[in-house]
Amino acid sequence: MADLYLLLITFLSFFNQPLANLHKTTTLFTSQLTSNPNSTSNLTTFFEVTKPINPEKTKSCSYLILQHDFGFTYGQPPVLGTYTPPFEKCPFQEYGKIVLEWRGTCKGRQFDRIFGVWFGGVELLRSCTAEPTQSGIFWSVEKDVSRYYSLLMSNQTIAVYLGNVVDDTYTGVYHVKIFMHFYPKNGFDGIKMGSLEGSYDSNADLIYPISRGLGLNDGLWFEIVNGSDVESKDVVIPRNVYRAVLEVYVSFHENDEFWYGNYPNEYISANDLKGAPGNGPFREVVVSLDDNIVGAVWPFTVVYTGGVNPLFWRPITGIGSFDLPSYDIEITPFLGMMLDGKSHKFGFSVTNALNVWYIDANLHLWLDKGSKKTEGQLLKYNVEPLQFYLSSNFTGYDGSFHANVSRSIKSTGWVKSSQGIITTEWTQDFNYSNIMTLGNEGNMQIVKQKIDYNDNVNVKSPSSVISFKSLKSFPFFFYTDIVDQVNGTYTSLSNVTLGFNEKKAKYSDSRASVSSLKNLQSAQGDMVVKGNLVVRGLGSTQQVYQYRGNEFCYFRNISSSNYTILYDKESNNCGLVAKQ
Ligand SMILES: *[C@@H]1O[C@H](CO)[C@@H](O)[C@H](O)[C@H]1NC(C)=O
Ligand SMILES: *[C@@H]1O[C@H](CO)[C@@H](O)[C@H](O)[C@H]1NC(C)=O
Ligand SMILES: *[C@@H]1O[C@H](CO)[C@@H](O)[C@H](O)[C@H]1NC(C)=O
Ligand SMILES: *[C@@H]1O[C@H](CO)[C@@H](O)[C@H](O)[C@H]1NC(C)=O
Ligand SMILES: *[C@@H]1O[C@H](CO)[C@@H](O)[C@H](O)[C@H]1NC(C)=O
Ligand SMILES: *[C@@H]1O[C@H](CO)[C@@H](O)[C@H](O)[C@H]1NC(C)=O
Ligand SMILES: *[C@@H]1O[C@H](CO)[C@@H](O)[C@H](O)[C@H]1NC(C)=O
Ligand SMILES: *[C@@H]1O[C@H](CO)[C@@H](O)[C@H](O)[C@H]1NC(C)=O
Ligand SMILES: *[C@@H]1O[C@H](CO)[C@@H](O)[C@H](O)[C@H]1NC(C)=O
Ligand SMILES: *[C@@H]1O[C@H](CO)[C@@H](O)[C@H](O)[C@H]1NC(C)=O
Ligand SMILES: *[C@@H]1O[C@H](CO)[C@@H](O)[C@H](O)[C@H]1NC(C)=O
Repeated sequence: MADLYLLLITFLSFFNQPLANLHKTTTLFTSQLTSNPNSTSNLTTFFEVTKPINPEKTKSCSYLILQHDFGFTYGQPPVLGTYTPPFEKCPFQEYGKIVLEWRGTCKGRQFDRIFGVWFGGVELLRSCTAEPTQSGIFWSVEKDVSRYYSLLMSNQTIAVYLGNVVDDTYTGVYHVKIFMHFYPKNGFDGIKMGSLEGSYDSNADLIYPISRGLGLNDGLWFEIVNGSDVESKDVVIPRNVYRAVLEVYVSFHENDEFWYGNYPNEYISANDLKGAPGNGPFREVVVSLDDNIVGAVWPFTVVYTGGVNPLFWRPITGIGSFDLPSYDIEITPFLGMMLDGKSHKFGFSVTNALNVWYIDANLHLWLDKGSKKTEGQLLKYNVEPLQFYLSSNFTGYDGSFHANVSRSIKSTGWVKSSQGIITTEWTQDFNYSNIMTLGNEGNMQIVKQKIDYNDNVNVKSPSSVISFKSLKSFPFFFYTDIVDQVNGTYTSLSNVTLGFNEKKAKYSDSRASVSSLKNLQSAQGDMVVKGNLVVRGLGSTQQVYQYRGNEFCYFRNISSSNYTILYDKESNNCGLVAKQ
């Protein structure tokens, strides 16, 4: 019995590692490297598989906007810089696309650190650093930030928070440069501003930060520390807004980094596992306006670069780990409540949360150029309570748990602008299923989870009907077993499969534009862990990325094992992308 208890504690420490305030489980101790011929030093390049940001291969005009070495920055204020728009340095008549690029290098030993980049308090990038090796690594993240066009046309204060700790053990300093790339407009794309008809693919006229202000320590995100914590911000919007969208950024850390594998509280108390991460495996981010629920986010299961087995993510990183997804909530049906020139409160909470979630948002606003005042009214509003189905069946440390949850949120409202009356209907529909199995006296865990997440916006104006649909599906499978432990060292076998699938469609009158993404990753391997360090091990990863859009297709089939790419097939041939 004493042995068993020890094993369990070791297992738990994998999820609940002892370094307070650091969100990580494991980091690498030794490694083998391949070299990058592009580099003057021999740095391995780590990367996330994603479709090319500039498939037309247009030449960009670029400049550096911030450079910093992130040493001991944990709990400090964000690093600040100044952004100036491209008018002088890149004087194009019109900008077709704007891209932010993060380039980082690091050498030594370091955890995967979460970071954020804000312009004028508006978050542009949430990301996780690559974990370094003794001989050094390089990684770069490119993100299309054209949707922030209006913000990027004036001077802004840049804030970057990357909470790093450097000491005798964790030696890696992150050397970072941030660039902006501006592409001239060509016939196909281009930044669309303004017109009502086009507003579902035009960029907002104004973007307000729903984040903590500057002059504070840590990131500009709110920190949600438990299930009853609500963090909020008041905002006053102009009186001639005709459309509003709240873009929400979320990331989960420490006791909720692996929320999908957290134990039900009854299991923890039955087995006297004080300190184990609890509250079960379901989480929902709830977004409210003046204390009314207006939408929800059922987040994608991002696995950071130190997660499960750090050797999985070298050099191919986990889906979304270098560019965490943000989630849009349509606020337009509720505009009637906000157009009074008074202050209104956006709030965020996380059902069942454990310490800690980092959440903030950007409020994208479209203005009626033809009038000083718009008006609106909420017509229908229906928030179904969460439908829970839970079952558990365990004896001692072994057993199984099943959770099914669903929810739908619907709202309809009209807004009257100089263009007439527009009625907007917004629907969210969610299903979740999680089957967790614990075996090998609690040392083995299997999690099989699926989230289905549909958003629908229908807009009716006197002259047209536009509808926008997004169908998201996030499958997740996780298996881990602690096979032995000697002298404070344990061996873990694990595999993980995660997918980010999304079909999007826009129908406007007789035109339709559709895209689909199927992005699936599997990884498997073992590792020997001592304390927080992986002493040795092996990780292999396979990924198939299939994107089919109106303009182009992108297919990539890639695999790595033990730091080496085994195969890498890439194509623009739509025939290779499975029809879905
Ligand atoms: C080297 O740089 C070129 C141009 O930026 C790029 O296309 C190529 O993929 C790089 N090679 C490696 C191994 O990183
Ligand atoms: C890169 O690696 C090679 C072979 O290991 C070594 O000879 C060379 O000095 C290294 N270059 C740098 C800049 O570290
Ligand atoms: C923007 O910043 C530049 C460079 O610091 C400065 O010259 C310019 O006056 C600023 N523009 C505005 C509108 O503040
Ligand atoms: C939850 O967190 C809030 C904010 O820190 C705190 O005020 C409250 O006491 C906590 N509630 C519980 C039940 O721990
Ligand atoms: C509970 O699990 C045990 C052992 O796996 C199994 O024999 C039993 O049928 C399960 N009970 C229910 C209600 O599922
Ligand atoms: C739970 O969800 C799964 C997957 O959607 C479904 O197959 C199953 O029937 C559901 N079970 C219950 C009890 O609702
Ligand atoms: C959720 O499940 C219900 C009932 O099976 C179904 O009608 C609905 O379409 C599902 N929603 C999603 C987002 O999969
Ligand atoms: C455990 O550690 C002790 C002290 O470092 C060492 O003498 C012993 O050989 C180790 N046992 C195993 C099985 O590694
Ligand atoms: C995960 O590993 C277990 C044990 O090795 C194996 O039974 C299972 O088939 C693996 N699953 C996947 C999806 O690789
Ligand atoms: C990816 O490549 C591997 C190895 O060649 C192959 O076995 C697999 O079928 C390919 N997958 C797809 C979807 O093409
Ligand atoms: C991983 O690669 C290194 C260096 O290429 C090699 O020495 C080691 O044996 C490999 N490990 C496994 C488990 O294949």
